[in-house]
Amino acid sequence: MEVDKNGEIDSDSSEQVVNPWEVSAKDGGKIDYDKLIDKFGCQRLDESLIDRVERLTSRQPHVFLRRGVFFAHRDFNEILDAYEKGDKFYLYTGRGPSSEALHLGHLIPFMFTKYLQEAFKVPLVIQLTDDEKCMWKNLSVEESQRLARENAKDIIACGFDITKTFIFSDFDYVGGAFYKNMVKVAKCVTLNKAMGIFGFSGEDHIGKLSFPPVQAVPSFPSSFPHLFPGKDNLRCLIPCAIDQDPYFRMTRDVAPRLGYSKPSLIESTFFPALQGENGKMSASDPNSAIYVTDTAKDIKNKINRYAFSGGQDSIEKHREIGANLEVDIPIKYLSFFLEDDSELEHIKKEYGEGRMLTGEVKKRLTEVLTEMVERHRRARAAVTDEMVDAFMSVRPLPSMFD
Ligand code: TYM
Ligand code: TRP
Repeated sequence: MEVDKNGEIDSDSSEQVVNPWEVSAKDGGKIDYDKLIDKFGCQRLDESLIDRVERLTSRQPHVFLRRGVFFAHRDFNEILDAYEKGDKFYLYTGRGPSSEALHLGHLIPFMFTKYLQEAFKVPLVIQLTDDEKCMWKNLSVEESQRLARENAKDIIACGFDITKTFIFSDFDYVGGAFYKNMVKVAKCVTLNKAMGIFGFSGEDHIGKLSFPPVQAVPSFPSSFPHLFPGKDNLRCLIPCAIDQDPYFRMTRDVAPRLGYSKPSLIESTFFPALQGENGKMSASDPNSAIYVTDTAKDIKNKINRYAFSGGQDSIEKHREIGANLEVDIPIKYLSFFLEDDSELEHIKKEYGEGRMLTGEVKKRLTEVLTEMVERHRRARAAVTDEMVDAFMSVRPLPSMFD
């Protein structure tokens, strides 16, 4: 399947595929992100916007901005224009609780969202789509709800501020004002349109067809009357990987017809599978992914065994021509998670020119990831059931803009 420039799925094409259910490059190559920007009609996140973020927040931009991990946006400039004039906004992101443990790719939007929350001092809503996974992954209602709570612990472990963050599960929260917005959205989307955007077919059950409005409406402040009463014009910014774009193309399409503002988006590339950059790290293939529950030994083994190397076959050849950094997964992973810009440049130079060997780069990557995963494990162990209840309770957040 393929998404054409109207954002609609065209199943005849042999091109790359990027949608909420599938991410794969053309003919085993790399995902072409420039092409995605053109096809989806989003905007490139350029240097001048990143400079603006730095000025407005008075802090160094996150590595994910400096290194182009977040590379595309929709109307992020409008969020910044408003912020500059003193108007705040709120953040919205989410997770489909399909597995017990998150992998490193799942942490990316949450790590970035935490930075945005701190830097801009704004409230955040996090949607756990237990209903979605119940329908797509054929989980029982109870199992989806259990996974949502387990995943909430990993999300809380990323360090969100409880005075500014509301986490909700669809099964618990949908109703009232939220449901009214769902119905308004649903009335604006024809079956043809939904089939075009999401690739639904006559064989899909109607539960799937009914889901997109659920993911759409957290973009509207009136879906959260306990948080934003009387603030119907508050803008919304959604950080996510670009696979979620179809939901928000639909949302942006219908918003003006409902008298609501369109949500803005800031979108990331995918953290690639260990095997290479033709797909995303995915929970469905355990050997493609490093999980936050992996032990130091698992991490070391997976990196040594599976991480695709751009190094040469023999030491002699490697010393002579150096590594192909373009396809090298350890270098790619370090560019996401090694914060020190000068160390990263040094490794790239030494490895690219053949003075450093793959084994040494993998060793450094193993250290970086092990430390990160250990830190996450300690933080998660400190998250109690009471804390989950507190984050998920429907309550006002009186100091959410301070
Ligand atoms: P889910 O659970 O598939 O993914 C959660 C978030 O993680 C991003 N993501 C990745 N980012 C980088 N590299 C990867 N390898 C990778 N794999 C997943 C996803 O893009 C997403 O941002 N339907 C959604 C849940 C949802 C949501 C939202 C997401 C509800 N509302 C609003 C973003 C914004 C889902 O199943 O995500
Ligand atoms: N992409 C998910 C997976 O295979 C499944 C999925 C179904 C999904 N519906 C979705 C993801 C909606 C994001 C949004 O792991």
